[in-house]
Amino acid sequence: MRSTDNDEPVSGHRLPLLYNLVYCSRAAAGIGDADVNRIVESARRWNPVFGITGLLVFGSGVFFQWLEGPRENVLHLMSLLKADPRHESVVPLSESEEVRERLFPDWDMERVEPDSIRDVLEDALDNAEDPKNAEVLRLLLDHLDSGELRQLSAA
Ligand SMILES: Cc1cc2nc3c(=O)[nH]c(=O)nc-3n(C[C@H](O)[C@H](O)[C@H](O)COP(=O)(O)O)c2cc1C
Repeated sequence: MRSTDNDEPVSGHRLPLLYNLVYCSRAAAGIGDADVNRIVESARRWNPVFGITGLLVFGSGVFFQWLEGPRENVLHLMSLLKADPRHESVVPLSESEEVRERLFPDWDMERVEPDSIRDVLEDALDNAEDPKNAEVLRLLLDHLDSGELRQLSAA
């Protein structure tokens, strides 16, 4: 287990090896704002213990989540997430493991409103010094214009 405070640089690099997983899913029937706030509260308690940071968007019955952290911890969380009855049809959008900077180092799990997701991703793209991060962000912005994520921005 590692927290963001002691991200271990890979030898020869100044940056840590990070696993990044982005997915979207459909909220189960009856899941609303209060449930999402409870999810975020619990994520903020546990994610720092596992060195996981990211953001969660909920709108029009669709979730979109960006997770980054040590590979084994992100994959363990993903196995819990897939079994969580509060959502279904979990579709991975992007998955990679690279030596790079954290994109959202201060967000244990930040809830972002659907209206703001484009701004958040564009802002992150403007500030991304790391070309690998910029590539994933461009991919997600493309997803926003087409495919599943269009529902989010239309919320
Ligand atoms: C859309 C969604 C996002 C979630 N994000 C996180 C998260 O970032 N971190 C976390 O610990 N749990 C998150 N959870 C909750 C986990 O699925 C799971 O309930 C939690 O890890 C506790 O597992 P347990 O109930 O088996 O103890 C999320 C659940 C949903 C539905």
